[in-house]
Amino acid sequence: MLFLTGIVVALVAGPVPAIGAITSSLQSILKNTHGSNEYEYPTDLTRNLLPIPVHSHNDYWRDEPFYTGLSHGCTSTEADVWLYNGTLYVGHDQSALTEERTLESLYINPILDVLERQNPESPFLTSPTKNGVWDTAPDQTLYFFIDVKTSGHETFNAVIAALEPLRAKGYLTTVKDGKAVTNGAVTIIGTGETPLDMVAPVKDRDYFFDAPLADLNDPEYANITGVVSPVASTDFDKAVGKITVDTDPILTEDQLKALRAQIATANERGIGARYWNTPYFPIRKRNLVWRTLLREGVILLNADDLDAVTAYF
Ligand SMILES: *[C@@H]1O[C@H](CO)[C@@H](O)[C@H](O)[C@H]1NC(C)=O
Ligand SMILES: *[C@@H]1O[C@H](CO)[C@@H](O)[C@H](O)[C@H]1NC(C)=O
Repeated sequence: MLFLTGIVVALVAGPVPAIGAITSSLQSILKNTHGSNEYEYPTDLTRNLLPIPVHSHNDYWRDEPFYTGLSHGCTSTEADVWLYNGTLYVGHDQSALTEERTLESLYINPILDVLERQNPESPFLTSPTKNGVWDTAPDQTLYFFIDVKTSGHETFNAVIAALEPLRAKGYLTTVKDGKAVTNGAVTIIGTGETPLDMVAPVKDRDYFFDAPLADLNDPEYANITGVVSPVASTDFDKAVGKITVDTDPILTEDQLKALRAQIATANERGIGARYWNTPYFPIRKRNLVWRTLLREGVILLNADDLDAVTAYF
C-alpha cells in the first residue's frame, strides 16, 4: 500500500522526464497561440498532405465531396453527372439529385478555389505558376473521373463546356495534335456513357477517356494509347476473378496471370491500370488485394474507406 502510494505521489508530483514532456512556452509556440503571420504562407492549405495513388470511389457520397478525398491525399476523384435542362447535377441515382448539388458547385468551383490558393500572385514569382492541388507535390495531377449518366453526346458536350473555368486558367492536362500530352493540375477522364468518338478523334483537347482495361486488345480499342486514355479501368471481380481465400498469396496463379497481362497491355501503351469492385471485406483480404495491386503496378487503387487506405500507406 505504501509502495503504491509512493508511485501515485511520484506521478502527480513530477517532474518525471518523459518523451513529449515539453515546456509550456514551447507548447504555446506549437499551438501557434501568438497568431503571427510568419506561421502562415499562401499555399499552405494542403501542407502536410502527402498524395497517395488512390481513387476516392463514389467521392460525391462523402460528407464533403472533393475536399474529403483531398484531405486524405487521394490523387483521384469522381463525380456521376446527370444533364437536366442544361445543368449537370451530381448524384448516384436520380433520387439523390438536388438543385444545389451540381458539377459546378461540388467540384469545379472547389477545385478552382484550391488551385487559385496554390497559385497566388506574388512579387516573389519570376514566372507564373501552374501548381496542382498538393503543396507537397505541385506537379502531381489530380485525376477527375466524370461519370456520364445521361445520354452520352449531349451530356459530355455539357461537361466540356462546364470545364471552362479550369480551362481558362490553364489548369487542365491537354493534348496537342493528337500526340503531345502536357501534364496539368487536373486530368479530366470521361467514363460511364462518355462516347469514345468524342475523345479519340479530337486532336486538340483537355479531356480523356476511361478505356476498358480488360478489353484493350479488342478491335474497337486496339489503337488506344495513353494519349486517349491515361488510365483504363475494369471490374476486378469480372476481369481477374472472385477471391475465395484471405491468405497470402491472395490471387491464384491464373488470376495473377490475367492481372499481369492486363496491366502489361496497358502499360506498353502508356496507359495506367485501375481496378474497381475489389473486395472490401474482410479487411485482411482487402489489404492483401491492395498490396498485390500496388506491387503489380496499378496507377490507382480504388478505395471506399479513405481512413483505412490512408492508414495503409
Ligand atoms: C426542366 O424544365 C422543365 C420545363 O421548364 C421543367 O418542367 C422541369 O421540372 C425541369 N427539370 C428540372 C430537373 O429542373
Ligand atoms: C482507331 O480505331 C478506330 C476504330 O477502328 C478508328 O475509327 C480510328 O480512326 C483509329 N484511330 C487512330 C488514331 O488510328
